[in-house]
Amino acid sequence: MDLHLGGRVVAVTGAASGIGRATALLLAAEGAHVACLDVQEDALRSVVHEIEQSGGTALAHRLDVTDPASVDAAIAAVVARFGKLNTLVNAAGVGGMVQFADLKLAEWNRVLAINLTGTYLTCHAALPHLLTAEGASIVNISSIAGLKGQAYSAAYCASKGGVALFTRALANELAKKKVRANAVCPGGVMTPLVAGMQLEGLDMDLIGRMQNPTFSLGQPGDVANLIAYLASDRASYVTGACYAIDGGAVA
Ligand SMILES: NC(=O)c1ccc[n+]([C@@H]2O[C@H](COP(=O)([O-])OP(=O)(O)OC[C@H]3O[C@@H](n4cnc5c(N)ncnc54)[C@H](O)[C@@H]3O)[C@@H](O)[C@H]2O)c1
Repeated sequence: MDLHLGGRVVAVTGAASGIGRATALLLAAEGAHVACLDVQEDALRSVVHEIEQSGGTALAHRLDVTDPASVDAAIAAVVARFGKLNTLVNAAGVGGMVQFADLKLAEWNRVLAINLTGTYLTCHAALPHLLTAEGASIVNISSIAGLKGQAYSAAYCASKGGVALFTRALANELAKKKVRANAVCPGGVMTPLVAGMQLEGLDMDLIGRMQNPTFSLGQPGDVANLIAYLASDRASYVTGACYAIDGGAVA
């Protein structure tokens, strides 16, 4: 299915790694001009290099989603380079498992600041440009942990549940203004975020409750496919949706 993304400008946060990286590569392959935004500058440059080697168009810009000035500067740089912004994909995020009794306020604040407030900041900065763009949309990355409780993930669930309903609020408010807003809710996907999880001392029976029927992890490209569809005009009637992409974990 041709997604007709040629000439569209898409900003992807978290583009240096995992789901954001796979999304940036796929959108560029589909013809979009992709602004790759992340705190990891070296890895960003390598994503942009890979896109350009394949004949695509991309920009790398450092972005810390927790810093309003950094967010404003990054969005301004995207519009300065490409002249518009059609779609914002929020894939920057952090995770990790910790027993609630050991969850310190600093870690709670860090997870909420990156996953939830960071999503607010980028959407807020992008909105004036989305309002004037053709086929405008926002795709936020929530999680099945934003749809269902998960042990050892109090801060993460709070942040991702927040992202899901934040997205639905925007969808309601922006529908008449022709800006769509959707969330994707991945289950376990093999990325550095998952590979780096420390699980020692945790009850694996509780963690296993989030498993899907095949006990398999998804690949970043699986999620990128859904994001690319939601970013395209093929999804022009889709807004306010929170799609699980999880191999059946919440089925
Ligand atoms: N991997 C999974 O199983 C899974 C499941 C559900 C949801 N998610 C969500 O998908 C998104 C992408 O995760 P991933 O698995 O690809 O992880 P990842 O660690 O591979 O990528 C996350 C990216 O976010 C960037 N980032 C972190 N803090 C940032 C900040 N302050 N400003 C800008 N960039 C920042 C990192 O540098 C990294 O490049 C996250 O929101 C994550 O919560 C992942």
